[in-house]
Amino acid sequence: MASDQLASPAGAGARDVMAGLRTPILRGARVLLRPLSISDWDAWREVRLRCVTWLGRWEPVLELGGVDPLFSRAAFASWCAAWEHERRLDLSYAFGIFLLDGRFVGEISVGGVYRGSFHTGYLGYWIDEAVAGSELAPEGIVLLMQYAFESLLLHRLEAVIMPDNHPSTRVAEKLTLRSEGLAVRFAQVAGEYVDHVRYAMTVEEWREGRDRLIRRFPTRPVAR
Ligand SMILES: CC(C)(COP(=O)(O)OP(=O)(O)OC[C@H]1O[C@@H](n2cnc3c(N)ncnc32)[C@H](O)[C@@H]1OP(=O)(O)O)[C@@H](O)C(=O)NCCC(=O)NCCS
Repeated sequence: MASDQLASPAGAGARDVMAGLRTPILRGARVLLRPLSISDWDAWREVRLRCVTWLGRWEPVLELGGVDPLFSRAAFASWCAAWEHERRLDLSYAFGIFLLDGRFVGEISVGGVYRGSFHTGYLGYWIDEAVAGSELAPEGIVLLMQYAFESLLLHRLEAVIMPDNHPSTRVAEKLTLRSEGLAVRFAQVAGEYVDHVRYAMTVEEWREGRDRLIRRFPTRPVAR
């Protein structure tokens, strides 16, 4: 398919948006993205517990309204079911990041999907500290961007990054996300509302840069 045919104007892609109802498996050269399921609890928990300090500085304090999935298999199952439900409602698309040998190494999502006249969503991602610096996150994000722009037909993806999060800022630069400036007290992180730099890419920018990005971070066709 030619890259200029990859996305339809808002409203014209309802059939393709049904892609969100299927369970996608996205494959790159080194990583595979698939929704988490209950069988991933042990691996997920091992990484999350080991990386508490690594991740805590950049993540919101969540009000889960119940038991923390870190300490309850049943809560983790509910959490996976909630993601699945959100996917079916076209609200968010969350994946575990796995190496091709099956090792769990992180998570990635497009959340806050808003259709209407926007067709937009927010990127979120984290990676196991033990494999940081291997460009696994940018590889996973390119896979997800391709899925979001070309299968879900989103028009815009946004990432919001704290100015002192140097590793994540580098990821935005590698992915050629465009800085849209500082949003004051934009989101809650570690219990406080703090400033974030907003980065974005539109589908028009994706079409311009996709071949370069995919050459650098190879993807494979979406499997279902
Ligand atoms: C941001 C993050 C996902 C980047 O993932 P990654 O797969 O390591 O990405 P990269 O390999 O491209 O590395 C990005 C930068 O991290 C830095 N980095 C490299 N190795 C590192 C390490 N072992 N520890 C910390 N930072 C490291 C480097 O500055 C690197 O940029 P460079 O390649 O120009 O040197 C990861 O650092 C992470 O999970 N951080 C904690 C959670 C987080 O910040 N999420 C994003 C919130 S907006």
